Amino acid sequence: MTTFLQRHPRTRYNGEYRAAHVGEQVTVFGWVQTYRDHGGVIFVDVRDRSGIVQIRFEPSHGDGNAHGQANELRGEWVIGVRGEVISRGSNINPKIPTGEVEVLVDELVVLNESRTPPFEIKDGTDTGESLRLKYRYLDLRRPELAANLALRSKVNQITRNYFADEHGFYEVETPVLMKSTPEGARDYLVPSRVHPGQFYALPQSPQTFKQILMISGMDRYMQICHCFRDEDLRADRQPEFTQLDLEISFVTIDQLQSILNGYVARVWKEVLDYDVPAEIPIISYAEAMDRYGRDAPDLRFGLPLTDLSDLLRDRITFRIFADTLSRGDMVKALYIPEGKSFSRKDLDKVLPAEAAVYGAKGVAWARVQPEGIWSGPVAKGVSDDLRADLNAALGAEEGGLILFVADKPSVANASLARLRTVVGERLGLIDPDAWAFCWVVDFPMFEYSEEDGRFYAMHHPFTSPRDQDAHLLESDPGAALANAYDLVVNGVEMGGGSIRIHDSTVQAKIFEILGFNAEEARQKFGFFLEALQYGTPPHGGIALGLDRMLMLLTGAESLRDVIAFPKTQKATCLMSESPGPVDGEQLKELHIRLAKA
Ligand code: AMO
Ligand code: AMP
Repeated sequence: MTTFLQRHPRTRYNGEYRAAHVGEQVTVFGWVQTYRDHGGVIFVDVRDRSGIVQIRFEPSHGDGNAHGQANELRGEWVIGVRGEVISRGSNINPKIPTGEVEVLVDELVVLNESRTPPFEIKDGTDTGESLRLKYRYLDLRRPELAANLALRSKVNQITRNYFADEHGFYEVETPVLMKSTPEGARDYLVPSRVHPGQFYALPQSPQTFKQILMISGMDRYMQICHCFRDEDLRADRQPEFTQLDLEISFVTIDQLQSILNGYVARVWKEVLDYDVPAEIPIISYAEAMDRYGRDAPDLRFGLPLTDLSDLLRDRITFRIFADTLSRGDMVKALYIPEGKSFSRKDLDKVLPAEAAVYGAKGVAWARVQPEGIWSGPVAKGVSDDLRADLNAALGAEEGGLILFVADKPSVANASLARLRTVVGERLGLIDPDAWAFCWVVDFPMFEYSEEDGRFYAMHHPFTSPRDQDAHLLESDPGAALANAYDLVVNGVEMGGGSIRIHDSTVQAKIFEILGFNAEEARQKFGFFLEALQYGTPPHGGIALGLDRMLMLLTGAESLRDVIAFPKTQKATCLMSESPGPVDGEQLKELHIRLAKA
């Protein structure tokens, strides 16, 4: 006895049926999505990963059993049918790609039954996310999520073609159990059974290994790899995420950027049929912070910020500004030509509430009246001369609105960057179909933390200073700029990298600036410092956040929609219930005793 599966291989995926197939004898497999009985004629939508096709059972048609069996079908049962593709005539369904045809069934087999699912499996569902994450396998049956995974698979293929086939990159797998590499987040640790009290770290990225591959002469490395970072999660961050990780020897920043420009152009063309300009604009970190308040500017719209500190110093009497400037902090402004779109309520409540999320203590404002006169809280503290200078600096004209934040640069920038986005969205200035790519370059080497009284690497400790800034490492490390670059798309940091240090003495110097004493540096990176001494070629690289790239390409609102089995904001997997407890025996073997709660 042969089975239905042996006799009848699937003809094509369900979403592929078209009018051209009318008259064909076909085999359809899938899950029962909906069931409708139209007085004798039964219609069933059968779903697979590609979409749905309608099948039709008529009482007098087929092998004599099909119609009777169809009566028993329930949602999510797994079925196979044989039948003929027929036209739906005047009953076409323009909402689905297969809507012109249906399959008139001769034979039906039920391959499996299903429990009643806890929610209806369809796109646009309003079922709570935690229930959908618990039953991720059901949620993934939704065509939208299935399409995201299909696209992800396609992007992986494009990536391998581009880098490995066309540009000579070797795809090399680096270890997951490894020694900690600092990328600024907390490590996930794995206890060693055979080495009591010792731990592996899961890679925050394969940074040291990929550089060592350059020392080994591999020349061009790529990997699609998982990275693990125990950090506070947001919609665009997962504790476990995927990088497209790259490293190249004997390369300049320009050459590296041109390889990457070619890659994103290829992806955007193949996925969205969009032509990324051959030259992606390059802006400095300083300019990005000055004009947009963040290092990942959204260049789809204007509304630049203006630092007014120099103009206002010693001339402004408005208390909050004068006090802020005398502390050495800044007053920065966002000028909105269409000021009338913002009501008193926006100015008193909505905008300050947005800014407060980023630490701003308030948002002062001025409306520009005829002849450049101001109204609003700041107006009284501004002389005619000063106002004329400010209007000129901002390009302010009648009808305009000026929003000011006075604070530390970090707060003023972050809160005005947020206001810029809110205003841009409100005024409809952000074209949802536009793509604005840019490279942000010339990042500082270090960030100084007042709290900890020390420098942190802005990118990571393996990043080289610009040649012209190398001497600053001794005299003024805080002023040194790095050979580092980020690739930014529509205000999202999609990737970041740098030209590396290939000289072990410079590398040791950086560890020293970062406050590792020689012993700590040896313990943490001794192997790496040693490797650097055996003929390290100049090299550099980058890692793109693949999940973030897919989020951009699909327009998804969360990374969770482009990851098969994502984690929640609390870093849990609701489906498999990880993390979970382990039994005492296992802990004992690992030489671990739990602290009492
Ligand atoms: P970086 O830390 O900038 O660089 O990471 C590179 C890119 O990875 C993505 N990314 C994330 N995506 C999702 N969830 C996260 N938690 C997360 N963290 C980072 C971002 C980011 O731009 N080793 C260096 C690269 C290099 O120098 O070559 C690195 O990891 O899109
Ligand atoms: P006040 O004098 O506290 O009534 O504030 C006058 C205006 O200044 C209000 O619009 C406040 O929102 C605003 N404001 C308060 N603190 C700041 C600040 N640090 N930067 C900008 N505006 C502020």
